[in-house]
Amino acid sequence: MSLLKKHAIIEKNATLLLVLSFLAVTVGGIVEIAPLFYLENTIEKVKGVRPYSPLELTGRNIYIREGCYVCHSQMIRPMRDEVERYGHYSLAAESMYDHPFQWGSKRTGPDLARVGGRYSDEWHVDHMRKPQDLVPESIMPPYPWLEETRISPDHIEDLLKTNRMVGVPYTDEMIEQAKADFTVQVDPFGDFDGLLERYPGAQVRNFDGQPEITELDALIAYLQVLGTMVDFSTFEPDASR
Ligand code: HEC
Repeated sequence: MSLLKKHAIIEKNATLLLVLSFLAVTVGGIVEIAPLFYLENTIEKVKGVRPYSPLELTGRNIYIREGCYVCHSQMIRPMRDEVERYGHYSLAAESMYDHPFQWGSKRTGPDLARVGGRYSDEWHVDHMRKPQDLVPESIMPPYPWLEETRISPDHIEDLLKTNRMVGVPYTDEMIEQAKADFTVQVDPFGDFDGLLERYPGAQVRNFDGQPEITELDALIAYLQVLGTMVDFSTFEPDASR
C-alpha cells in the first residue's frame, strides 16, 4: 500500500483523524510553550527602564481612569511607516512595569509610546484644556477638570505596594519615601536628590504651572516620561536571545 493510500484511511475515519490531529497539535503546543517555563525571563532587560516614580504612576492611573487608551495605543510596531512617524519601535522591556500594559488596539489619535519630550508642558496644559485650540480638526474631548482637581499623596504607598505585589520591584525605601517623592517631583526648589537616586532621569518641575499639585501635574509627568527611559543612541538589540 502506498503512503498516499494509507493516508486515505485517516481521511475516511473521522475519529482517527481527530485523534491524530489532536496529537499533532499537542506536540506542537508543548514544543512552543514548554521552553517558556524554563527561561528565567522572556523579556530582554534594557538599560534605563525603571519603575515609574510615584507621581508618574499616579498620572498613569488617571490616564487609565479617563480611558485615554480607548483612542491611543502605546505600541510602535516595527514597520517602516510607524518607525518614521513615531520613532524606534517599542521594546518589550519598555512596558515591563506596566500593570496593565497600555498597548491598546485602537488608534483614533496617534500612538503615545514616545510622546515624552515631543511637546512642552504648556502645550499639554492647553491641549488637555481644549484640544481644538491647538489642533482645530481634533476630535479629542477636553479634560478641563484635571487642572482643577487637586491631589494628595495619601494613598500613594498603597499604590506602590499593589504594583509590587504584581511584580514591580519597588523597594521598602521607595515605599517609605513615596509621599515625599510624590511632592518633591513638582517642586524644582525642593531637595529631590533622593528622588533622582531612586528614579534616575525623573523630570522635576511644576508641570501644570499652578502652585497646587493637580491631576494634570501627574498626567503630564506621565506623558513626558513615555518612551524616554531608553537611550536609543546607544541601544543595541541583543540578537542572541
Ligand atoms: C475620542 C478619542 C480620544 C480620546 C478619548 C483621547 N484622545 Fe488624545 N487625541 C485624539 C486625537 C484624534 C488626537 C490628534 C489630534 C490632537 O492632537 O488633538 C489626539 C492627540 C493627543 C496627543 C498628542 C499626540 C501627538 O503625538 O501629537 C496627546 C498627548 C493626547 N492626545 C493625550 C490624550 C490623553 C492623555 C487622553 C486621556 C485623558 C486622551 N488623549 C484621550 C483622540 C483622543
